Amino acid sequence: MSDKTILRALKGEVLPTPPIWMMRQAGRYLPEYRATRAQAGDFLSLCYNSDLAAEVTLQPIRRFGFDAAILFADILLLPQALGAELWFETGEGPRLSTITDPEGLRALKGRDDIHDHLAPIYETVRILSRELPRETTLIGFAGAPWTVATYMIAGRGTKDQGPAHLLKDTDRATFSALIDLLTEASIEYLSKQVEAGAEVIKIFDSWAGSLKGADFEDFAVKPAARIISELKARHPGLPVIAFPREAGPGYVGFAKKTGADCVALDNSVSAQWAAANVQKDGCVQGNLDPRHMVTGGEALIEATREVVRAFRNGPHIFNLGHGITPDADPDNVALMIETVRGA
Ligand code: CP3
Repeated sequence: MSDKTILRALKGEVLPTPPIWMMRQAGRYLPEYRATRAQAGDFLSLCYNSDLAAEVTLQPIRRFGFDAAILFADILLLPQALGAELWFETGEGPRLSTITDPEGLRALKGRDDIHDHLAPIYETVRILSRELPRETTLIGFAGAPWTVATYMIAGRGTKDQGPAHLLKDTDRATFSALIDLLTEASIEYLSKQVEAGAEVIKIFDSWAGSLKGADFEDFAVKPAARIISELKARHPGLPVIAFPREAGPGYVGFAKKTGADCVALDNSVSAQWAAANVQKDGCVQGNLDPRHMVTGGEALIEATREVVRAFRNGPHIFNLGHGITPDADPDNVALMIETVRGA
């Protein structure tokens, strides 16, 4: 069996100290990240510069000794590879050309036509699998079809995913075809990441919480189940983490329904509740409130201990409930890690 702690937890082992990594661990709260991003020019240039993307992936590993590194890239590179225009407005976030009708959908490329565009991402993975310390696990990722579709339909991030819900409810055929294309393209994209050296795959469904009832089953559960079963057929034993963010009661049974080895939890659910209702089915990841990385102090220590305590009787990977924010203090990250590791 591998001695990598993340892989052991994903196989269901209960470890005395949970392994730890952090969503957005390579990011703007780190001065060394900001320096490398400036060297690359902008965020997207950094994503497509394999050497510099590998460098920023390694920075938090060197500084903090996390147990996993996550490939530095973005969930919106896949729509770009499919032919959508993508750019980032400073201080505002992503902008894309929109898909709102059958013509827009038809103009996109096929699931097998993405690899030239994404070749630099696969190269980043290859560099990382050579350069990471041997105890560090390399995580590859993609956005879940629903979350990626919300950006492609609206052309930007939205509070309530209104445009995507509208297309879903008024032109089901076009919406479903977009979800299917993203599902199949994600399989090809993730499969190449695994071939390049990714040891674990994580699927980010950041807006899963806005899908209710049958929509949650059709557009959060089913696409994840399809991606996971095909990846595992191609790469036997590959561990997969699913993150249906803000799914609330939808977290219950999500691992069983999708075949995920681990469910990542946001901080809107209590760790005690998740231990009883989600961790009973296997490994969970999470779920400290990222605000503690800004505020620090005794409250951080207490909340960190509470998460560790709540999940100590089952397999657990310590993480935040969402990405660390640019205003976070790196010293608070060090304090969190020290607290988890019991120093
Ligand atoms: O976690 C990691 O460190 C790995 C790399 C990673 C990034 N984005 C880098 C990034 C991952 C896994 C993502 C996922 C991602 N991207 C999600 C899903 C997870 C989540 O946060 O809910 C989403 C919705 C996106 C789309 C996206 N990318 C948005 C909405 C934004 C703007 C918001 C923001 O934080 O600025 C981005 C930009 C982005 N992606 C940054 C980073 C480090 C900041 C860009 C910068 O340096 O200016």
